[in-house]
Amino acid sequence: MYNHRMRRPSLIDKVCTAEQAAALIKDGMTVGMSGFTRAGEAKAVPIAMAERAAADPFRITLMTGASLGNDIDRRLTEAGVLARRLPFQVDPVLRAAINRGEVMFVDQHLSETVEMLRSRQIGPMDYAIVEAVAIREDGGVVPTTSVGNTASFAILAEKVIVEINLTQPLALEGLHDIYIPTRRPHREPVPVLACDSRPGLPYIPIEPTKIAAIVFTEQSDSPSANEPPDAETNAIAAHLIEFLKQEVKQGRLGMGLAPLQAGIGTIANAVMHGLIDSPFRDLRMYSEVLQDSTIALFDSGKLAFASGSSITLGPAMTRRFNENLDAYKKRMVLRPQEISNHPEVIRRLGIIGINTALEFDIYGNVNSTHVEGTQMMNGIGGSGDFARNAYMSIFVGRSTAKGGAISTVVPMATHVDHNEHDVDVLVTEHGLADLRGLSPRERPGRIINNCAHPDYRDALRDYAERAARERGGHTPHLLEEAFSWHLRRQRTGSMKPEAGAI
Ligand code: COA
Repeated sequence: MYNHRMRRPSLIDKVCTAEQAAALIKDGMTVGMSGFTRAGEAKAVPIAMAERAAADPFRITLMTGASLGNDIDRRLTEAGVLARRLPFQVDPVLRAAINRGEVMFVDQHLSETVEMLRSRQIGPMDYAIVEAVAIREDGGVVPTTSVGNTASFAILAEKVIVEINLTQPLALEGLHDIYIPTRRPHREPVPVLACDSRPGLPYIPIEPTKIAAIVFTEQSDSPSANEPPDAETNAIAAHLIEFLKQEVKQGRLGMGLAPLQAGIGTIANAVMHGLIDSPFRDLRMYSEVLQDSTIALFDSGKLAFASGSSITLGPAMTRRFNENLDAYKKRMVLRPQEISNHPEVIRRLGIIGINTALEFDIYGNVNSTHVEGTQMMNGIGGSGDFARNAYMSIFVGRSTAKGGAISTVVPMATHVDHNEHDVDVLVTEHGLADLRGLSPRERPGRIINNCAHPDYRDALRDYAERAARERGGHTPHLLEEAFSWHLRRQRTGSMKPEAGAI
């Protein structure tokens, strides 16, 4: 078994324990780790680092692809190891440390991190710690359930620590396509011309002498944390499917639609599930995270091909995926996130991007990251890569949060990740607002009537009408009132007008 996994005998003397590998990481270093949406993260060495920090405190800058599983961000935060963290996270303990100002979090478009590292605008990177299915005869590293930033971290770091995970099926080999853009000023077009293009290698090519340590692990990926679809998310999916049917009827799309991207989280996953019962066929995904819905769409016969950067499944889907890996592998590819999220490719393929909003305003500006404008939730992730460059950019969300106390449709978004120029369609459980071709003056009516919760519609209309009448302008606002809903929530616990004046 070990020979199948570690095929370059000259590296045998690099095999060591996680504690020995963790000892290589020193205070002040910049470390890149594999891992994207709880899939394929290095597991044993980061945990050994957190344990070591109890006796020997040290702090690092940690870069990953996206979020990590196995509570690694929590453990590193609690151990005080994280000085700086980028480009994405979803952990409640880390989130709280970021919001207390204890960890410097750089919330970055996911396509950009390794571009900045490669051009030495950030870094340099001392160590990459990457999970692998195997090390090949030539020293090439075969990733596991995510590619994320792993390939460029391994290529750009001074030294590499490889965790060979014996629980990740060897049959994952062949699932990956590692294409790294050529260096500027001689950058060539990224040769991804279709969802199933494979211009790269099925492994990460690195110089074997860079491998400083090899650790064997047997810890599985954490299961996906998505909640199952509910009445609200089913309603969101139904509105979106009806809209897409109309696009087909108008002749703007065919029954295969356009390559689909779906964001992280419960809502986006549920929307993709909704496509199982739609009339569309021969669908393709060019996305970032492949979730349970991807496997369900394959099994329903609706999905022809899926390209992503990671695969994050619940326990039942993980079993199904692993049992039929050879069949799924023919119709899937995992790429580096700078390619799955590459603006050039997204624009070329004409993607329909479906991402989730925390809140949006009556003009279509979307906040995906900052609760009440200040408290970081997870990060922008890849939503900006897709929203800016998509053929059609759709944002979905529930019309209220926290039992109705918060309207997610507000007079003015308290933080803008996706401005009105990048947002074509908004959907909640109440309906869909098609904003294409509308000026700001025309948007509030459509957004309020179609998307806002009925409890908040009158107050939103009142704000929009008074702003237009009293202040005017291209995008009318009453600046002294624009955030009054958020202030009311902070002072009374609810945004509802009857909760009291502020
Ligand atoms: N104010 C305060 N809290 C809000 C809120 C608002 N306006 N809107 C939602 N929330 C809270 C919910 O109450 C819930 O909190 P809880 O877990 O304590 O109950 C949490 O946010 C998640 O909301 P949920 O409705 O379950 O949606 P989700 O799981 O689909 O996640 C995002 C939504 C926006 C947090 C998530 O999609 C995200 O992080 N997006 C940004 C990154 C991204 O889009 N990446 C994809 C690129 S491929």
